[in-house]
Formats: sequence, C-alpha cells, structure tokens
Amino acid sequence: MSGETYVGAIDQGTTGTRFMVFDHDGKVVANAYEKHEQIYPEPGWVEHDANEIWENTKEVIGEALESANLEAEQLEAIGITNQRETTVVWDRETGQPIHNAIVWQDRRTTDRIETLEEEGKKDDVQQKTGLEPDAYFSATKAEWLLDNSDPIKLQRARPADVRERAEEGELAFGTIDTWLIYKLTGNHITDVTNASRTMLFNIHDMDWDDELLEEFNVPREMVPEVRPSSDDDYYGTTDASGFMGAEIPVAGALGDQQAALFGQTCFDAGDAKNTYGTGSFMLMNTGEEAVMSEHGLLTTVGFQRSGEPVQYALEGSIFITGAAIEWLEDMTLIEDAAESEKLARSVDSTDGVYFVPAFAGLGAPHWDQRARGTIVGMTRGTRREHIVRATLESIAFQTRDVAEAMVEDSDIDLSSLRVDGGAVKNNFLCQLQSNILDTEIVRPEVDETTALGAAYAAGLAVGYWETLDELRANWQVDREFNPSNPQNVEHRYGRWKEAVERSLDWARD
Ligand code: G3P
Repeated sequence: MSGETYVGAIDQGTTGTRFMVFDHDGKVVANAYEKHEQIYPEPGWVEHDANEIWENTKEVIGEALESANLEAEQLEAIGITNQRETTVVWDRETGQPIHNAIVWQDRRTTDRIETLEEEGKKDDVQQKTGLEPDAYFSATKAEWLLDNSDPIKLQRARPADVRERAEEGELAFGTIDTWLIYKLTGNHITDVTNASRTMLFNIHDMDWDDELLEEFNVPREMVPEVRPSSDDDYYGTTDASGFMGAEIPVAGALGDQQAALFGQTCFDAGDAKNTYGTGSFMLMNTGEEAVMSEHGLLTTVGFQRSGEPVQYALEGSIFITGAAIEWLEDMTLIEDAAESEKLARSVDSTDGVYFVPAFAGLGAPHWDQRARGTIVGMTRGTRREHIVRATLESIAFQTRDVAEAMVEDSDIDLSSLRVDGGAVKNNFLCQLQSNILDTEIVRPEVDETTALGAAYAAGLAVGYWETLDELRANWQVDREFNPSNPQNVEHRYGRWKEAVERSLDWARD
C-alpha cells in the first residue's frame, strides 16, 4: 500500500496489547495482538510487568505495519486507549518501573478503603471524584507502591527512601496511557478520562485535588499533566531515531471504556454503549452535566476535545464477564470461548444453576469488595453445559443490574443498546442479553470500537477527520437482536438477585 494515509491506535487491555490501523472510513487496515503475563503473587493480587507491556506494544506496531505493507510515515497520528486504573510508578532518570504495575482488579488495598469509610471520608471522596471509593481505583495502589516498593530495585547509587524520592520529583506516577505516552514521546501526560479514574482528580475543577493527594500520600511532584482526550497540541511525537523511525504525533488518549463510547459515536447526551471485555462497562453520555448517581453507578469523564467543554458519563462497571469465560477455559470446562456458545445452546436452561463470578469483589451497583465467586443450585445432575450457560447468563444479568440503575439515575429509557467487545461475537449472548434486558441490542460492523475511538480522538486532533458527523457516517450496523422467547425472565432475574446476596461479604478474615 502506498500513498494513502491512516491513523493508528494502541489498545492496551487487561489481557493483551493490540495495534490497529484505520482508514478514513473507519475500516480496519491492519491489526496485530499479543498477550502478556498475568501475575498473581497472592490471592486477590494482580500485577503486570510494565516493561513487558511496552515491549509488546513495540512488537504489535511493527507486526501490524509489516502485515499490511505500510510505512510508519503513512500514519498521520497515533491514539492510545488502555485498561484504566492500573498503576505504574517509575524512575524518571532510568525510565524503569520501581515495581510491577498493580492491576485494576487487584484487591490488596481493600483494608485501606475500609479505613477511609470508618473515618467518615467516603462521601467527600465520592463528591469530588464521582467514584465509589474502592480498591479498584489508582489512589490506594499508588500509596501502596510508595510504601512497599523495595528501594534496592530503584537501581540508583543513593539508597534513599522511595517516598522521599517521590517527594523530590524523581519518580513518576501514571496509568497505562501515561506509561505508553512517556515511552513513546518522553513526556509525562495523561488525558482527562484516565485522570478521572485515579480517585485523585476532582472532576468538577478538572484538576488534581490537593486534599486527595494528601489523603493518599501521593506527592503532586509525581502526577502527570492532564490534557484533553483529543489534543490539537499533541502529547508529543515519536522519535525519528526510535523504533518507528518516524516522527508521528501522539494526539489522542482515552481510557478503554470511554474510547468505546467515542468509537460507538455516542457523542450526545443519552447515547449509551456496553463493552464486553475482561469485565463489562456500560457508559451513558450525560453531556456537560456530571450527573451524580443515587443507584451505585460512577460519574466519570466521557471525553474532551481541545478547546471544548468536558463531556461526562455515567458508568456501570462490572468487574468480571469475559474473564468468567476465560476461567471456564482455565478449568478445562471449555476449549475456547467459541465453544461456550455451542455448549450453552445444547441445553434448554441452566437447570436452576446460578453463577455469580465475583472473583474480584462486585462493582456496580453493589460495590462489595469482599464478595467472592459463588455457584448455587447445583444437583448431582448438573453438567458442564449448565455451568457454561449459567456463566453466559451471569454476564447478561449483571448487565441488567447496571442497566436498571442507569435508567433510574438518568430518567432515560434504554430502548436500544449498542454493544461491542470480544464477547459480542457470541450470538447466543447477544440474544440472551436482549431477552434479559427486554431491549434491542445493536452490534456494529467494527466491534473493535475501543481502538477505533482512540484512532478517532487522535485523527480529529491532526485534522484527518474534521467533524463528528464524518465519524457518525462511518458507523454501520452489523446485526440487531430483539427480545424473543423470554422464558420466565422475571422469575430468573429474581433468583439471580438472591444468588448475588449469597456471594456478598464472603472474604472476611
Ligand atoms: O476499568 C477497567 C477497564 O478499563 C478494563 O477494561 O477491556 O481491559 O477489560 P478491559
């Protein structure tokens, strides 16, 4: 391919890293993916090696360009989208992380959040950040890293205390977007959407909050500069003498769920999408108003374009959905994700089995850090097909839990829901979701809307696309699913809620 130009997107997710190249019509021109190691040092702890993620990022960029016979110069811009909240602290001089990254699913700081609640500080944190205080967010992870990283590993001659070095500005804090922007451009920057997931950022003032920085002992010297998600001034450019051999503007970044909202062209208040990845995240654009939830949802930053007001969103964060299918694979109940559809269809029902995959506690709307995975209703006749079907049902039921909260908070009826992410290839799941929500489910042609959203943000910043209408015109329906054969849905949903009750508060000492 020669002559034409494109936009690239790095999609750094929980299980792996993808690089995609899109053309002006929003069609995929190149795609490469690599998984990285999941590190579980203790029960409830989850870590990633930030260096491995960076090496994989370089590899997938190279592979994707090569597979489509593209030159790096043909990329007009690069956008970044990423697993959110996952926290890295690194040494500014060596560029080396001081510890593995602590992943969003990690529960090691549960006690710290409970102390915050006991001290009566929860409401204040919630009001400023829009977040339900939880170990999920970055603040307590950063605090843990400063308190527990081994100074020897800092590879510096002066064996100073880690915290002291952070206060002197020698260490940098960031989520994965920040880590990749730093590695690509040398600049220490995050975007507004990722900042809004740290629990250190005031979403009304749109700035780091001094009281929260003090509460969680994170020195201001180590936090990144916060910029729009689509930035006409660019975060920086890649280095012509670096691995890409070209100076490409890195001009857009969004947390992966906000990127999917953007890629699904949910630009107006009331537009909503649900992404089925490791977890599932339903976001509804609420426009310029930060709607505070009364039903267990999060208020978060949706996106911001240069020189334009911030757009907010309501979010229902479900921690484990696709990861429950992966767990079925790990338990050798299925060979691969595709087999789950076949096995679930092979039985008429779960035969009374309900599976609450609360492996990492429960997020919205329950917010129980100590909930744990629970299977109820098994008999001697229960077969793997029933467990597999119950797993797919758990995805649809959890989505209904957050959808109901969203309708109550927003007062907007969910007559149709745009879906994306790996699991929506499963037609059985899409139909089940439609039945359980009693709502039309719409699957777009490009189901990698997360990467597409990041490409759009970067492409708008450099003028590759000029208006949001151009992006709306690119959006095409692949298939719609309408409620049919609901099979006793209300009764089953009631039983699901009882099963959830049984999973709560399990992981007590
Ligand atoms: O908040 C966590 C979320 O950003 C992770 O997304 O797609 O990596 O499961 P995903």
